[in-house]
Amino acid sequence: MSAASSSRVVLVTGAARRLGREIALALAGAGWRVAVHYRGSAEDAEQTVADCAGLLAADVSQVKSAAFACDLNDEDAVRRLLPQVVAQFGRVDAVVNNASTFEFDDAASFSYAAMEKHLRSNTGAAILLAQALHTHLLARQAQQTENTERQPGCVVNLLDQKLWNPNPDFFSYTLSKAALEAANTLLAQALAPVLRVVGVAPGLTMTSHMLSAEEFAALHRLSPLGRSSTPADVAATVRFALENQSITGTTLLVDGGQHLMKFGRDFSLMGGAPLKTID
Ligand SMILES: NC(=O)c1ccc[n+]([C@@H]2O[C@H](COP(=O)([O-])OP(=O)(O)OC[C@H]3O[C@@H](n4cnc5c(N)ncnc54)[C@H](OP(=O)(O)O)[C@@H]3O)[C@@H](O)[C@H]2O)c1
Repeated sequence: MSAASSSRVVLVTGAARRLGREIALALAGAGWRVAVHYRGSAEDAEQTVADCAGLLAADVSQVKSAAFACDLNDEDAVRRLLPQVVAQFGRVDAVVNNASTFEFDDAASFSYAAMEKHLRSNTGAAILLAQALHTHLLARQAQQTENTERQPGCVVNLLDQKLWNPNPDFFSYTLSKAALEAANTLLAQALAPVLRVVGVAPGLTMTSHMLSAEEFAALHRLSPLGRSSTPADVAATVRFALENQSITGTTLLVDGGQHLMKFGRDFSLMGGAPLKTID
């Protein structure tokens, strides 16, 4: 591992558990120092920090990993988050916007409150963190000599295959991810050449309390490739997006092709029902 690669810092939101933890560990394994963001899962966040630090080479003398609490619905707190990471690590090179509110509503129960909650954490926070990274990288560039080799920073936004295969369940969540997909393009335009902005859209990857293990396995197989994405697939794609220097303003779908099919309901509500797609 080169000194340059071991000095890179990535902030991964919602990295205490589940997909975010998997992404954090994959990036630490690739030499990234990881800022682990969490909201309520403090103990799990400390475990992710310890596991990430353990994956970095013993001779990395800088801060290897650290945890940062922040409610992404709180705009002031979100504005403080990236500067706090810079204060601890000395720099930030990338942000993975993984954390997400995922609460059920539909067209009948939709409310401004539900919409605002999802838009704040899933869309607004992701945009503010991109804005903060851009500001930080501009300040860093101002201190460098003209001959310094510059690599753009990178923001990866976790989207969802259901944007390409819509159903009206989880109405506000879906709207917030659709807005983030639009922001992915707008930010790539606005923040180049300082930043690249890439979407990663998983298919059904992790189960929820709404599905039994058998139901999850059956739904996971329901794709053209006979398997949706695993956490390792998604984490590897995030790493690829962070490290490939020519990708920006686009989204990589990692879903076994589920977006090519049509489902009438959200996966988490398809347990118990006969598995079928719609025409
Ligand atoms: N899981 C899948 O199969 C799947 C499929 C398609 C897309 N995705 C996308 O992939 C990403 C990760 O999925 P996941 O299932 O691992 O996510 P998740 O478990 O639903 O949520 C990840 C974390 O987000 C944090 N979070 C939620 N609301 C927050 C808020 N207001 N402020 C700060 N943090 C907040 C929580 O942190 P704390 O626990 O610390 O509170 C939570 O652990 C999401 O963006 C999701 O939309 C996932």
